[in-house]
Amino acid sequence: MNIEVSSRIKRLPPYIFGEINALKLKLRREGKDIIDLGMGNPDKPAPKEVMAKAIEVIKDPKAHRYSASKGISHLLKEVAKFYNKKYGVELNPDTEVIATIGSKEGLSHLALALLGPGDSALVPTPAFPIHIWSIILAGANVITVSLEKSGENFIDHLFKTYEILWPKPKVLILNFPHNPTTKVVDIEFFRLIIDFALKKEIIVIQDFAYADIVFDGYKAPSILQVHRAKEVAVEFITMSKSFSMAGWRIGFCVGNEEIIKALSKIKGYYDYGIFTPIQVGGIIALRELWDKAPDEYARIYQDRRDTLVEGLNKIGWEIQKPKATMFLWAKIPENFIKAGSLAFSKFLLEEAEVCVSPGISFGEEGEGYLRIALVENEKRIKQAIRQIKKALDKKDYKYVLEKYNK
Ligand SMILES: Cc1ncc(COP(=O)(O)O)c(C=O)c1O
Repeated sequence: MNIEVSSRIKRLPPYIFGEINALKLKLRREGKDIIDLGMGNPDKPAPKEVMAKAIEVIKDPKAHRYSASKGISHLLKEVAKFYNKKYGVELNPDTEVIATIGSKEGLSHLALALLGPGDSALVPTPAFPIHIWSIILAGANVITVSLEKSGENFIDHLFKTYEILWPKPKVLILNFPHNPTTKVVDIEFFRLIIDFALKKEIIVIQDFAYADIVFDGYKAPSILQVHRAKEVAVEFITMSKSFSMAGWRIGFCVGNEEIIKALSKIKGYYDYGIFTPIQVGGIIALRELWDKAPDEYARIYQDRRDTLVEGLNKIGWEIQKPKATMFLWAKIPENFIKAGSLAFSKFLLEEAEVCVSPGISFGEEGEGYLRIALVENEKRIKQAIRQIKKALDKKDYKYVLEKYNK
């Protein structure tokens, strides 16, 4: 039988990173030791106190039942306390906090809860793919606003874009510190955004995945620190990066009560909640480790950042040190830029045995760049630099284009 997939699925383009993944697998099967700086997949384990608590709870038969879809109440209370301790923000745990199965799940279902055909959302690009595709899957339209081209004038560019649009977009998606560009903002930026959103009645969704992966004394603000933000905004946080719990699948959406209610309703139909031992592990992390563990993980990424940026600069590849996230957003060296980011990434994978993400996989705005994730140890990072140097020294863009632009 010919299986006809839905029009929803058909609206999704082929997954560009899939090509890189397939090549990586092929090379690994051939016995190559690929240094994988592709996906933002933390390599460090969760804190040992969190693991110990989860193991203890897993032995309790009661913990094996379906959990609460919106999160167990002790966990929601702990999230509210955490926001108060860390950001001075008051949240009602019953109405303004919900647990999500990682922020990716939360973002996806929130798009379904808020948007449908005829609606649109503003998304800065290049973008973390789910910020675009969750909206497409909800049947709504995406209006992109270039982060790359507008540079320091992003906010003016955003407001001007809004003014010329009709019908007006319903939602604005933000993500600062930003994946993939690593751009950061200050609280003044969020003040302007909230002021704008209140005037124009637009919902703001801030993805705060890299809240704690910050360097050199930079502190990332929460959008909810802005007066009246809760009238229009929600924020997603995740334990994936701050507590290196990516595989555990636990995050939160906090802020506007009506938006949380809508997400809670849709999740009530779709899921039965996160496995209880994981939620209890989350309580320990937020209660006992909130001001220690994230800093320790950030320190590891900062050291790796320094090793990689300094090493690449030394071989003639100029890159700025980012202030946050677990990535470098690296402009392709001038003499290779014509090869394009996909071909250049394939070249690095095959000939330097280093996997990175091509900028194009974050949208057309990302072309000309690579995203390099700091998810291997410093020894391996140094090895990667040596291998990259060797590959770059031998070849030019014409060679890369001819061999890899297929
Ligand atoms: C910007 C951003 N948002 C969300 C996520 C997904 O996080 P989670 O593991 O909480 O689903 C990531 C993961 O890399 C990310 O970079």
